[in-house]
Amino acid sequence: MTRARLGVLLSGRGSNFTSLAEACVDGRLPADIAVVVSNVEEAGGLELARARSIPAFGLGHRGLKRTEHERLVDATLRDHGVDWVCLAGYMRLLSPWFVDRWKWRIVNIHPSLLPSFPGLHVHEQVLAYGARVSGCTVHLVDGGMDTGPIVVQRSVAVLDDDDPAALAARVLKQEHVAYPEAMKRLLSESWQVADRRLVFGAVD
Ligand code: GRF
Repeated sequence: MTRARLGVLLSGRGSNFTSLAEACVDGRLPADIAVVVSNVEEAGGLELARARSIPAFGLGHRGLKRTEHERLVDATLRDHGVDWVCLAGYMRLLSPWFVDRWKWRIVNIHPSLLPSFPGLHVHEQVLAYGARVSGCTVHLVDGGMDTGPIVVQRSVAVLDDDDPAALAARVLKQEHVAYPEAMKRLLSESWQVADRRLVFGAVD
């Protein structure tokens, strides 16, 4: 099987990038990370990528229109032969132009059980609501925020003495399992999107 080429977009520390990179190296994922791009030039994830000899680019968005910035990101991904875009803590909404250009080839991880608690400050929202279960969701990206077809979810208990940091840490451990698992399924199984549902299995 030819190995997929992943482009990772991130804005921060990059622990989900690392989980994908490790899965590529240890054979769990039939893929390689071809490039890492960040809109934050000082993002820790860029250094983690460079330490693995993966090309890594800080492409700041300040002073650029959204689509101008996305054209730079898109060109960098294409230059590196990317066929899947993995968002791993990428804190920029993508325009319809970018989403259409990479239709059903953009994957995101979100630290809640969607459709509950989309957006920012997720663990604070979960605790404020009093939910007993939280988790993470890996989904394909459509035009909305955290709304695309779901690939994998993993749950964790919310404990009575949790604070946002403790809950975030418990969810993050599951994120590091869920993202490689979701990519493995997307890359090695057939699947289709029916309405908003991602269905694995033979495609007619
Ligand atoms: C993760 O919690 C992810 O779910 C969210 O942003 C965070 C990124 O963490 N989208 P890291 O940079 O991968 O460590």
